[in-house]
Amino acid sequence: MRELKNLFERNRKWADKVKATHPDFFLKLSRQQKPEYLWIGCSDSRVPANEIVDMLPGEIFVHRNIANLVVHTDLNCLSVIQYAVEVLRVKHIIVCGHYGCGGIVTALEDDEHGLIDNWLQNVKDVYRYHRARIDSLASEQERRDLMCELNVIEQVINLANTTVVQTAWKGGQKLTVHGWIYSIDNGILKDLDVCIAGREDLARLQSQR
Ligand code: CO
Repeated sequence: MRELKNLFERNRKWADKVKATHPDFFLKLSRQQKPEYLWIGCSDSRVPANEIVDMLPGEIFVHRNIANLVVHTDLNCLSVIQYAVEVLRVKHIIVCGHYGCGGIVTALEDDEHGLIDNWLQNVKDVYRYHRARIDSLASEQERRDLMCELNVIEQVINLANTTVVQTAWKGGQKLTVHGWIYSIDNGILKDLDVCIAGREDLARLQSQR
């Protein structure tokens, strides 16, 4: 081991600490995982899924990418959703964005960044759908905050329209999709009130937009 020894040391201490409070924790986890939640969040290091909702390993299935996007051609994200819904049978999928998201801020600017601009085009599309409302706000801060919220809502709609989620609902599986946003500056989550528990909820939400 040439480098990053400190991380291995930290790992040993962490494993010892967990075992001290829950002696059979790792043994139980090694036999199965049965999380009730799938979290789709931003890759930002300040928004760690488990910590924010104070959950232990095994309790939350996680997918993260830049700007917490659900893109219909993203096999990575879609595969995570399929496994979570069809195999783990999670009851809730949470799309969680955060204020001050670098992906959102970057997408609102005109600068070029190469490859990542293809990914951020999905965020630029969200801006284009809601341009009038966003541009009517006076300050840049307000525009960015609203974009972070609207991006979550659009991803919730994308998620609810995936074949995996649609098939689950058609088959009577209990599955609810949520849109949340996190404030890095105080650690608090906010529900954006776009809870979708079935195809009727989705139709209602889409008709309002
Ligand atoms: Co972000």
